[in-house]
Amino acid sequence: MLPAFEWKGDHLLLLDQRYLPWEEKYLKLRSLEEVARAIEKMKVRGAPAIGCVAAYGVVLALREGRSLDEAIGRLSRTRPTAVNLFWALERMKRAGEDPAAAEKEARAIEEEDYQANLKMGELGSELIPEGVNVLTHCNAGALATAGYGTAVGVIRRAWEKGKVKKVFVDETRPYLQGARLTTWEFLKLGIPTVLITDNMAGHFISRGEIGAIVVGADRIAANGDVANKIGTYTLSVLAKEHGVKFFVAAPTSTLDLKTPTGSQIPIEERSRDEVIFINGRNIAPLEVEVRHPAFDITPASHITAIITEMGVIYPPFEEGLRRLLNDTGH
Ligand code: MRU
Repeated sequence: MLPAFEWKGDHLLLLDQRYLPWEEKYLKLRSLEEVARAIEKMKVRGAPAIGCVAAYGVVLALREGRSLDEAIGRLSRTRPTAVNLFWALERMKRAGEDPAAAEKEARAIEEEDYQANLKMGELGSELIPEGVNVLTHCNAGALATAGYGTAVGVIRRAWEKGKVKKVFVDETRPYLQGARLTTWEFLKLGIPTVLITDNMAGHFISRGEIGAIVVGADRIAANGDVANKIGTYTLSVLAKEHGVKFFVAAPTSTLDLKTPTGSQIPIEERSRDEVIFINGRNIAPLEVEVRHPAFDITPASHITAIITEMGVIYPPFEEGLRRLLNDTGH
């Protein structure tokens, strides 16, 4: 699997995800501004990957002679919803102004995320029923993390254990993370993959063709409400209606216990152009009003379990999440 990013000692190599699956094109990022723009323009995306890349952005900033405060200020204005970004920047702040110490911390953030993904894959795969099709939304794979993936990691490990027949992937309008990125990852792994448009999910779920749904998360509030890619909420309603298990896989860096419920999570609104244009061509009259929330909130009551690297949490999530973070000394 191609890595989403790779630290090269004096620059960051970044796979430009806007070109996938057509072209596997790596960029060399050498400055704070290049890293900040790459996050804003979604050349790199996915909550844990954004956190890791931002940490290396701080390292590059310090090497450019910029202050820690300036680096953190610029990077925290890139994308508002994924809390992993702010979690990583907080760690970088504690590491201080010394570029060597910052580099060590950024490497540690990356390595911990990779290990967390492996652990979630192991724990989460145990929850997948035998012999089912599993559905996922957006891309919560190797491309969205330091490697292996959260939701994709769980499905991948369950498939290796012989539990998964096929994986159904929502295309995930408007940025098409499912169609462009997740199918690309699953096909590279040799896992049988079925691409569907977002509005087909209800059809397959209602016919009993989906045995479990696994998604990632951008932020999990103290009560267990989950912010994830727009369309996740709709899927969770379908899962509840049809009694399908709905799992969220996310590392503890995605937990935000300072935010009480999902309604306090900031939802990023992205540009109208990402909705109205596909491959440079408008698919609707240019003058139409467009809304583009990039995330939605899935209520805790729709979620069967939250899979983290520290363990699996079941309802009531409020209590479970608090106990998990206290036990692990967070
Ligand atoms: O806008 P994106 O592509 O950054 O959104 C990504 C998602 O919503 C993912 O599901 C989430 O970040 C988890 S990635 C392991």
